Amino acid sequence: MFRYLPVRKVHARQVLDSRGNPTVEVEVTVGEGVIGINGYTARAIVPSGASTGRFEAVELRDGKKGYYTGLSVEKAVQNVNTRLADAVTGENALDQNRIDQILIDTDGTDNKSSVGANATLGVSMAVARAAAMALRVPLHQYLGGCHTKIMPVPMMNILNGGKHADNTVDLQEFMIMPAGAENFEEGIRMCVEIYQLLRILLKERGLSTAVGDEGGFAPDLADSRDILAVIVQAVEKAGYRPGKEIWIAIDAAASELYDEKLDCYYFPGESQMKGKEILRNAEEMIDYYESLLEEFPIVSIEDGLQEDDWDGWQKMTERLGGRVQLVGDDLFVTNIKRLKCGIQLKAANAILVKVNQIGTLSEAMDAVEMAQRAGYRAVISHRSGETEDDFIADLAVATGAGQIKTGAPCRSDRNAKYNQLLRIAERLEKMAVYENPFEKQGTDRDF
Ligand code: PGA
Ligand code: ZN
Repeated sequence: MFRYLPVRKVHARQVLDSRGNPTVEVEVTVGEGVIGINGYTARAIVPSGASTGRFEAVELRDGKKGYYTGLSVEKAVQNVNTRLADAVTGENALDQNRIDQILIDTDGTDNKSSVGANATLGVSMAVARAAAMALRVPLHQYLGGCHTKIMPVPMMNILNGGKHADNTVDLQEFMIMPAGAENFEEGIRMCVEIYQLLRILLKERGLSTAVGDEGGFAPDLADSRDILAVIVQAVEKAGYRPGKEIWIAIDAAASELYDEKLDCYYFPGESQMKGKEILRNAEEMIDYYESLLEEFPIVSIEDGLQEDDWDGWQKMTERLGGRVQLVGDDLFVTNIKRLKCGIQLKAANAILVKVNQIGTLSEAMDAVEMAQRAGYRAVISHRSGETEDDFIADLAVATGAGQIKTGAPCRSDRNAKYNQLLRIAERLEKMAVYENPFEKQGTDRDF
């Protein structure tokens, strides 16, 4: 139908994310005819992290005192409306790689610190969406091609801690994965049932059922064993078998626990609850995970060690990599340079992919491709600061990543993604593929 679909107009504005912080929304119009007649307009909103990796691309914030607590993004908005709009207007929206290269070149820095990764990403996603719209194909099919059919297994973060809540849980995320479900829809149902039972179990123990940034409960529990035990209890109460239908994933977000001076990981919640300082060095962290793996149906550990400890990551992968997925989030920051380094060192065996860590869609897709070629897995992920934008749902299907991490089945910023995936599953119908990514890991155990 089209070979040349020009970008006609690019417009950004400041909107709000799920934490009430300003973020960038970009609207892109493409089309050959007159705008409004043959034009197609799509929009995208940029997410934002709290436990951000040190090596992430730069999220440009204004830092104006007494104004949106310094977090406004007016400069980034301005950069879209001037420098980026000038650069991509007239360019072919069907050539996403080229569009993204123009965004990268216009910024001109290594870490998008000139225009901001929040500026480039908004344009990148909105262009892709407008192109798909003009071609009248669903976004996942546009991004992934006609063979796209792999639905992701959700990693549902049902218990929040770390920087995402004010409770005593030190590890940031405890997630359930319905890898044994028949299909995506059934997986969602199982997770929702478990989530609702977890609420009841926490309530019965007199614990808080208020939720953290990603919609998971945030009770004052401190010991990981206690947390994992109550999750397993909720799974069983819902009528599912841990280690057969439902598995557990953890995001330790260890960079946040790391104390550089002590070269140790400090557990503030556990220390407070136990009335003594709980510190673990890298070796002890690995021992700790190993013991948890023995006791609980854990299939995935993300950021088990901090972002600079390549040595520790190598050791952890050597010791645990054969039986558990080790995901690099802050370690790789969706950056192929860091991923390449990890692959060479045999550090981790999976990458977390967050589009705003790198700032363009093409670069995020490059990271997935590099991972898959090296036999690493990829997990498409939200940020703790999210919006109604459901782009990553389509991206997860398009890349065939097989896993998506997008919070609890609670709060519309999280459910926007699950709901879009339910629509995609309905569209794919019997063509949809839903597989246990951990089959070869020997995860099918009795607990
Ligand atoms: P963030 O958390 O978006 O705050 O970085 C998510 C994660 O660490 O995976
Ligand atoms: Zn993480």
